[in-house]
Amino acid sequence: MDKISEQFNLERTSRVEAYSDDSSFQHSSQSWLEESMRKGYVYNFNWLGRPIIQNPIDMVAIQELIWEVKPDLIIETGIAHGGSLIMNASLLAMLDYCDGIENGEILDPIKPKRRVLGIDIDIRAHNREAIEAHPMSNRIDMIQGSSIDKNVISQVYEYSKSHKKILISLDSNHTHEHVLAELEAYASLTSIGSYCVVFDTFIEDMPVDLFPDRPWGPGDNPKTAVWEYLKTHPEFCCDKSIQNKLLITVAPDGFLKRKDI
Ligand SMILES: C[S@@+](CC[C@H](N)C(=O)[O-])C[C@H]1O[C@@H](n2cnc3c(N)ncnc32)[C@H](O)[C@@H]1O
Repeated sequence: MDKISEQFNLERTSRVEAYSDDSSFQHSSQSWLEESMRKGYVYNFNWLGRPIIQNPIDMVAIQELIWEVKPDLIIETGIAHGGSLIMNASLLAMLDYCDGIENGEILDPIKPKRRVLGIDIDIRAHNREAIEAHPMSNRIDMIQGSSIDKNVISQVYEYSKSHKKILISLDSNHTHEHVLAELEAYASLTSIGSYCVVFDTFIEDMPVDLFPDRPWGPGDNPKTAVWEYLKTHPEFCCDKSIQNKLLITVAPDGFLKRKDI
């Protein structure tokens, strides 16, 4: 790396580290996140034409992770309208494109190697139709069923056998019990150096009244599940550098990195 880039990176690291002690910046970010949830902000965006229920800042974080890890399989629970499936598939398509440029070969555009596997308990017919009609659909497979159903879990394990570098994204039912069961089922598929991203851990830090019609809330949510899971899984750590950098994220303590132990 040249000296200017090295300097740029050093400045970035120390700036991000400073954010973790910056209570004013953290407080305003939390307030913004709370207000945005009250106003339904996360429902405002599309990725390549499909509604994606994510915060745009988290979308950038996922792009950075996919570039860093270069997975050949992303397994995600929680499909909804398919926006995150399409986003992940499009980023994998770009990785394939870059591989092709580097190696001077045209990778199979019809049955691409890098793939996304989505699981949802209820894939609505109009969503399935739109996902299957999308140009990215040739690298997407879907399973309908509960992500913690034994039969679904075994299908996912079977599918995973033909892949080497796996990244996991958990974004379905956000209760403690469900997310803990998803972590027990899928986190071990995360490749060393890759991530298991647990969405909506931020629920723990929000006021009780923010999710009145939901079974989750402070004390019972993905973050409490992550904390429980980490007690017995030293092979994972929370990569706090990501949340320190983002400040506004629905996944604080949710970027779990698999260590080489
Ligand atoms: C927050 S949405 C997913 C959003 C999507 N990842 C995105 O970024 O656009 C949650 C989804 O989880 C699904 N879900 C709820 N319980 C589930 C379960 N037990 N197993 C699998 N999916 C479930 C719901 O049907 C819903 O589509």
